[in-house]
Amino acid sequence: MNYRKPSAYVLGLVALLLMFNCRQAPDLEVKTPVNRGLITENAMVVTARVEASKIGSAVLEQGGNAFDAMFATEMALAVAYPFAGNLGGGGFMVYRDKDGNTGAIDYREKAPLKAHRDMYLDEAGNIIPEKSTYGAMAVGVPGTVAGVFAVHERFGTLPIEVLLKPVIELAKNGVVVTQKQETRLEGYKDAFRKVNQDTIPLERNWKVNDTIKYPALAETLERILVNGRDEFYKGKTAEVLTEFIQDQGGIISMEDLNRYEAKWRDPVVFEYDDLKIISMSPPSSGGVCLGQIMKMVEPYDLHEFGHNSLKAVQVITEAERRAYADRSFYLGDPDFNEIPIDEILADSYLERRMNDFSFKAATASESISHGQVMVMESAETTHYSIIDQFGNAVSVTTTLNGGYGSKLYSPELGFFLNNEMDDFSSKPGVPNMFGLIGAEANSIAAEKRMLSSMTPTIVERDDQLYMVVGTPGGSTIITSVLQTILNVHEFDMGMQDAVDAPRFHHQWLPDLISIEPNRFPEELKEQLKSKGYSILERNNSIIGKVNAILILTDGTLEGGADHRGDDTAVGF
Ligand code: GLY
Repeated sequence: MNYRKPSAYVLGLVALLLMFNCRQAPDLEVKTPVNRGLITENAMVVTARVEASKIGSAVLEQGGNAFDAMFATEMALAVAYPFAGNLGGGGFMVYRDKDGNTGAIDYREKAPLKAHRDMYLDEAGNIIPEKSTYGAMAVGVPGTVAGVFAVHERFGTLPIEVLLKPVIELAKNGVVVTQKQETRLEGYKDAFRKVNQDTIPLERNWKVNDTIKYPALAETLERILVNGRDEFYKGKTAEVLTEFIQDQGGIISMEDLNRYEAKWRDPVVFEYDDLKIISMSPPSSGGVCLGQIMKMVEPYDLHEFGHNSLKAVQVITEAERRAYADRSFYLGDPDFNEIPIDEILADSYLERRMNDFSFKAATASESISHGQVMVMESAETTHYSIIDQFGNAVSVTTTLNGGYGSKLYSPELGFFLNNEMDDFSSKPGVPNMFGLIGAEANSIAAEKRMLSSMTPTIVERDDQLYMVVGTPGGSTIITSVLQTILNVHEFDMGMQDAVDAPRFHHQWLPDLISIEPNRFPEELKEQLKSKGYSILERNNSIIGKVNAILILTDGTLEGGADHRGDDTAVGF
């Protein structure tokens, strides 16, 4: 209890005393930023690639709104960032419009009609290695094209032609290879060869500053421009896609594509101090898990403990441990499961969950199960944040799951297909490619959506738009979004500093604190070990790649584009 934050009553009293003393609380001073991100007056788009940020921002400059920019940016990422941007995957968007209305759309992939619970198990009931991660059997029914058209239909203001033309031009003219992309493509060459019968264009020896053109993708986009959403789900593209997947041994049919629908959902909304957090609801675990963690850490004075201090790392780790244990048990597709969202976000429940936490020693994960109320996903997703000149905001995370998804590439259509089926629990209790353990709620069934960690999030302060934030990172998505919000709110950082700050992660099982290499002091690591925590510090491991926007006190926007990637903020 010593560490509890003062109650609202005590805070009120202190504020009153300070007013009478006419003294400013030193705590309220905002730190001088170490690195400022891009500052703009009106609007901003932050994505994984400058080309996509520019296309999104140009849509806004032409008078389009954040939803128009979402359509164009998502499609531009499919061209400029084939690692995770996609036509063959899915995603989630959370929005807050200029009048303060909030909502969310789920364009997550779903299991094909022919999918069934044991489809990745052999006769002995063991998981068949790689069947849910590589090639045609790993592919879920894609949702991205349905998602962007649904958003445009409800909120868009500019014609599709205006949004798609620059993307088609980009695909035709090509995208310049960055150093990071060269390294990535080199690393995935063997996997491309393993899965695809023919040599695919990305398999060539691409070097930094080369330009990769995407003519097949440009043609697919041109057909979508002419025929709209149905081109992908009922037209020539659908026919070519299903024939290709089935030729490769997959099970997605025309009926699967015909029946796909993006779904509008109510976001998860909760409060933390004077912030209101609006985040993604199931079938993503993001909002619920973020809410659980934030509400478990809220009573502790993180500001007083200090950024990445021993006590702050401990309390955040312990909250993460408990939330991820619940995640694996309770969460899945809400259209197939009763999910006790209100119960597991209730203050009384979360207080009970933290009852056995002590600063003296780590809680063993084996002693924690779901609280009489876990699964992880890929690091290769991508997130973009947009605020327009009217005050609308969108937070969008989209994915193929693994880097380049299932690695299966349709030469005729010019895009990769997801391996999102691996986000189901193929065998409850057995970890997926991210070490996440799934349970019944996330077992495979025809037309069910697989559980996700994607956490597109919008934050309000005093009822005003304050921050738009999200990240890729599989199981580390939730904890990266968490730390970015806390870095601003508790540790007084600006947006770019909050995004750049070193991150750590715990997900219940395996019972480890993963930390970014060479970014945490030896002394802290030793202190954590002495309390029973195991530390995993892997070379080259990054935790999240956050793209975010903060509204500063003077009303200008600060972008936080993660230095861990080629991420870039563009605006005006
Ligand atoms: N496949 C990444 C996620 O859904 O979290």
